[in-house]
Amino acid sequence: MSRRKTLVVVASIAILAAAVAFALAQEEDKFAWVPAGGCTLTLEVVKNCTNCDDIVTIVTSQKTRDEWKAYFEGKETSKKNESEDQKGIGALQGLTEQKINTLLDYLTLNMPVVKDQLPADPAKIDCTVLPMDGKQELLQFCLSCHPISVPAYEDRDLEGWLALLEDRTHITALDANKVTEKQRQELAHYLTYNMPIPEDQIPQEFRGRPPGY
Ligand code: HEC
Repeated sequence: MSRRKTLVVVASIAILAAAVAFALAQEEDKFAWVPAGGCTLTLEVVKNCTNCDDIVTIVTSQKTRDEWKAYFEGKETSKKNESEDQKGIGALQGLTEQKINTLLDYLTLNMPVVKDQLPADPAKIDCTVLPMDGKQELLQFCLSCHPISVPAYEDRDLEGWLALLEDRTHITALDANKVTEKQRQELAHYLTYNMPIPEDQIPQEFRGRPPGY
């Protein structure tokens, strides 16, 4: 290939990559109204925490749910509870019970991460390298057959969500995507706390379930 052709190819690939990154960012934004998952919440809490351990220490630690709760409640944050439904204390201030539960279950189910699997630069530790949280799974595994309104209006407890994920349609889809047992648990816990989404928080274009569901 001539040098000029090579340059054209390289430039085209770069433009394509930028377009894909842009499309992905838009895609993410489109679902900004879907409640945050445990990974996002963890990074947010750690970032606002004034005396927590560093992120590497935190994600490579193993703790029970009660221990995670006690750990964060014993630390401090630059945020404050600003409304009645924010129940958090210590570093969990500024969070609703829904978010606290989502965060604690994510950490309990997914930590510790093996240190070798993390980027050497702690600044690069984000939700693309940490275990997927329930929101990421919902967007990745649940929208290929029906719109998000189908899960968004569904009210189930943990057992109910686990049962749904195990019905024939859903287990086949999850198996095809090689979703692990741990990931199914994470998804079911996330859905339990965060679904149904109150209708006034759902943008107009996503409201209403399609007929037949
Ligand atoms: C392979 C296609 C497919 C994928 C992927 C899929 N679903 Fe479904 N889903 C269906 C079909 C078909 C129905 C309706 C019939 C049924 O219940 O099997 C349904 C129904 C539902 C319902 C309505 C309740 C019910 O019992 O019918 C909910 C809630 C739901 N899905 C959630 C999810 C979630 C959460 C995910 C992500 C893990 C997901 N779906 C991924 C095909 C899919």
